[in-house]
Amino acid sequence: MLDPRANVSPFDVNMAADAGYEVVMPYSGAALDDVTGLVQDAIFSRPPGRYNDTGVFIGGHDVNLAADMLERARSAMVGPFEVAVMADPNGAYTTSAALVALIEKLLRARGGAGLESRSVQILGGGPVGLCTAVLVAQSGGHPRLIRLTEMTPARAEPVERFASRYEVELPWVTGRDDAEKSAALENAEVAVCCAKAGVQVLSADLMSRCDMLSVAADVNAVPPSGIEGLSVTDDGAELSSGALGLGALAIGSIKYKVQRGLLERMMSADRAVVLDFPDAFEFAREVVAS
Ligand SMILES: NC(=O)c1ccc[n+]([C@@H]2O[C@H](COP(=O)([O-])OP(=O)(O)OC[C@H]3O[C@@H](n4cnc5c(N)ncnc54)[C@H](OP(=O)(O)O)[C@@H]3O)[C@@H](O)[C@H]2O)c1
Repeated sequence: MLDPRANVSPFDVNMAADAGYEVVMPYSGAALDDVTGLVQDAIFSRPPGRYNDTGVFIGGHDVNLAADMLERARSAMVGPFEVAVMADPNGAYTTSAALVALIEKLLRARGGAGLESRSVQILGGGPVGLCTAVLVAQSGGHPRLIRLTEMTPARAEPVERFASRYEVELPWVTGRDDAEKSAALENAEVAVCCAKAGVQVLSADLMSRCDMLSVAADVNAVPPSGIEGLSVTDDGAELSSGALGLGALAIGSIKYKVQRGLLERMMSADRAVVLDFPDAFEFAREVVAS
């Protein structure tokens, strides 16, 4: 497990152990330039064909850095000396995959159509918000990030870099107070709260003014709820605004299956797989459909 931070996520360590990995080795503080050496040290320790016996997991918080590390790991393989690689920085890949697959299901339940041409407003531009926006855009929807804290050119640049990597447009507006949020949510069909844990982003009053909303989702499991009146267990319950609510534990139950399923796939696939978050989304759609 390679992670540029001081500590590898205990959540990810437990997920790997529960998925059946016998030895989980955290390489915390791993920089981008450490990836090739670490991966090559692993691939040459076993003969070709034993790609299921070692897997590389990339964590962290910075989604651009994780994508660069995934690419670096992929290109470190040497001919038949290769192992599986998966990235999931801050759980954002598997969380956004579960979230967008569930939103798609609720939209279909309500009106027959999925994300195509839908206005999807995402409150919070952290790892989960950014990945969610990319998946919505790749599904034909119109995502927009509502940025909750001060924006500077230095904070806008990573969004542009992430968008161009996945060949989508990720427009953003600021939503630092209720007036800005209310203006940004006008005509929104889907509102998704992806803010820092334990922060309420949308009050009941603000929600009551969003009369075009079909679905309102919140990924934060730490009280208070990111959306006032939404419960963490909501999985399609109708909120007082009329929107269908999706709470953090409903999202988490799919996220858990996706992360575990991908970790298992690294050990069971008939080739050395490289798993990015569009792969997580495809898997989440299968889990939600089943
Ligand atoms: N349900 C699940 O299965 C699951 C799994 C993983 C994570 N999560 C949750 O998903 C959420 C997002 O995760 P993340 O990694 O993207 O989060 P993050 O990096 O901690 O923060 C996300 C965003 O929250 C906003 N924010 C930061 N401080 C704030 C403040 N004081 N007031 C209001 N907003 C503030 C910022 O938005 P701007 O950049 O727009 O300013 C920031 O980018 C977290 O609540 C996390 O716990 C849920």
